[in-house]
This record gives sequence, C-alpha cells and structure tokens, in this order.
Amino acid sequence: MSMSPLIPSWEPLSEAVLSDQLGTYDRMRSACPVAASPRGVTLFCHADVVAAANDPDGFSSATTTRRSVPNSIDPPEHAGWRALIDPFFSAEQMALLQPRVRAIADSLVASLPRNTTIDAVAEIGRPLAVRAQTEWLGWHETKDRLLAWMADNHDATRSGDRERTTAVAAAFDEIIGAQVERRRRLGDAAPDDPTTELITATYDDRPLEDAEIVSILRNWTAGDLGSIATALGVAVHFLAEHPGVQQELRRDPSGLAPAVDEMLRIDDPFLVSRRVTTETVRIRGHELPAGTRVYLNWTSANRDEAVFGGADAYRPEEHAPFNLVYGAGIHVCPGRPLASMELVVTVGSLLAATSGIELAPDATPVRETYPVGGWRRVPIQLR
Ligand code: HEM
Repeated sequence: MSMSPLIPSWEPLSEAVLSDQLGTYDRMRSACPVAASPRGVTLFCHADVVAAANDPDGFSSATTTRRSVPNSIDPPEHAGWRALIDPFFSAEQMALLQPRVRAIADSLVASLPRNTTIDAVAEIGRPLAVRAQTEWLGWHETKDRLLAWMADNHDATRSGDRERTTAVAAAFDEIIGAQVERRRRLGDAAPDDPTTELITATYDDRPLEDAEIVSILRNWTAGDLGSIATALGVAVHFLAEHPGVQQELRRDPSGLAPAVDEMLRIDDPFLVSRRVTTETVRIRGHELPAGTRVYLNWTSANRDEAVFGGADAYRPEEHAPFNLVYGAGIHVCPGRPLASMELVVTVGSLLAATSGIELAPDATPVRETYPVGGWRRVPIQLR
C-alpha cells in the first residue's frame, strides 16, 4: 500500500500503546491527528472521524472480501438492508422487550453476593448480555454454549492465530445455523420471535439467502454480546469511582440513558471501525490514495477536547449531541435502542438493589486491549 510519506507512523499493537490505550490516543490526537501503521491510517479527531463516517462514497465499508450484512455494504444497496433491519429495534419492539430484560437483570442482581469481591464483567456484564440476547432472539437453549463461545472468541481474537479465529467463527455459525434450521422445520409452528421474522423477511421482493440470514444474525449476536458486556464493565467502573453520580442516579433514575452514554463516551469500549478509500482523499494536508485502509478511532474522537469540555468531564446533557459511541453516518448502530435499553435497565436494577457500588479493596481493575477498550476485569463489592 502506498501512502503519503508525510504521515507520522505509530504502532497501535505495541506494548507501550496496549498498556495505555486512552492515554496514547489522547497524546496522538494532540500531536498528530493522523497516523499510519503498517495496517492503515488512523483518524483521531472528532471532525475527521465524523467527516469520513459521513462520506461513504469516499470511504467504503467493503474492507474485506467477506460480505457482512449490513456492515460491509456500501450505498445504494446499504439503505435497503437498513430498511429491513431497523424495524427490529423500533420503540414498540423495545417497549415489549423491556420488562423481560428487567426481570433478567433483577434476578441476576438479586443473586449477586453482597460485601464480597465480584467481577462486574464476568459476573454481571457477560451473563446479562447472553441472557438478554437469547431472550430477545428466542435462543433460550443456547445460553451456556454462547457463554463458552464468548470466552473462546475473546481468547482466539487475542491469540492472533488465524486457524483459531476461523474455528471460533465456524462454531458460531453452527449455533446460528441450528436456530435457523429448527424454525424452518417447525414451519407455521415456529416461535414468534425476531429470528423467525428474519427468516421469513424479504429484501427487494426476494427471500433472504441463508448466507445473508447468518451474516445478519452474526452481527446481531457475535459483534454485540461482547460490546454489551464491556459497556457494562465501563459503566459499573465509572459508578464505583463516582459515588456522587451513583447517589444522584439512585435518587432520579430518569437521567440514566444520557448518563450511561456519557460514561461510554469517556471510555468508549468500541475502539475503531474500518474503511477503505475509493479515491484520493485529503485529510489535514495528507493525501491518501485510493485503496488506503482507514481506521475511524471512535474512542479518541469521543475524547476530543475541541468538541467536549474535557475528555474526562462528565456532562451528559451538554455532550450528548456530539457523542459517537454508536457511530455516525449511514452505518450508525441500528442496535442502539436495544443496547441502551439493556444497559439502562441493568444499571438501574443494580442501583435500586444496592446502597453502594465500590471498587474492591483487595483487587485491581484490569484494562482491555485492542481490538476492544474499557475493562477486562472490574472487581467490585456491592453494599
Ligand atoms: C454498547 C453496545 C454497542 C456499541 C458501543 C455499538 C457501536 C457500534 C458502532 C460504533 C457502529 C458503527 C460501525 C461503523 O461505522 O462501521 C455499530 C454498527 C452496528 N451495530 Fe452496534 N453497538 C452496540 C450494540 C449493538 C447491538 C445490541 C446490536 C444488534 C443487536 C448492534 C448491531 C450493529 C450493526 C448490525 C451495525 C452495522 C450497521 C451498518 O453497517 O449499517 N450493535 N455499532
């Protein structure tokens, strides 16, 4: 890949960066808002990330040969897929699901020991994500397999071993395939859930191909399970460090949605999205030729002092219009209503059932590393 020699270089996978991702992004953003690694060019500033996300003609999402619906699809085809997908996350659908997620969150929170160290990621985030997702999709019998898969997937991704990641992906497709098969066998007796609805949906007046159904379901589950779990880790860690915010939200939970969004803005666990340029583009005086791989660094953009009062300043209402946790442009996260509902319900349930959430005195939180942000382990005690 050839690119402008003027672009400063960096190595996002180096030990130094991995041991302090947020700090490095903060420094990169002020020192060199565009930087190149052997794998592509990273954009760190809010304005550049938003501009690229809003220019799908110049910045294509078809970054690999593997077709992923709707993630890797460009205009004009992309709009048709979003028209099919977005109604699954309508306010009406979310209102129907909300009490079922509340019941899951309440029973999980009630089962947690008090005054004992627990890990908010493993003992709250992951089980909540899996139980809420299987409830939504109607995949009740897959809970244990999905939990095991999440752990395998996490380890395989970090191993960098292609054979392992391929095997883990195949194992996941098998879980999905079984769900599709079962509903086809049941025909009219298939359960009334989003999975059945997707199998019977049409795109452009034709039924979906199996590969398309599997791809959509993969993006609804595989991509999302981990982000809900890590997002909960980030929110719980923030609350543990900010008892004042905890008390305020306990007193008035109506502000929970913007509050959680703001906690995720400060420490956005969804680090980057990839694009590839379709033509020569200019960014801050640098010329990126067609075919340049580009990383939109949401985590850095979300801490950009040019837009936010301060990277770590907690101002939910004021910062909401610029928040990029769920992306921007045509690929903006369709699952946001679901993610936000699950996070708000779970955090609300945790606050309501406790008088305090504290960092454990006997263990240290551990950061996640690329390709994920936030926390790997958040040891806390509930009071
Ligand atoms: C805290 C949780 C979540 C975060 C932080 C998050 C974040 C994002 C971001 C930043 C994007 C934009 C990617 C891009 O521009 O290339 C995105 C896209 C997407 N998200 Fe989410 N997401 C979350 C939860 C979910 C959930 C629950 C679902 C579905 C069940 C979901 C499904 C998708 C899909 C299908 C896309 C691709 C959309 C497209 O290409 O048009 N996400 N998400």
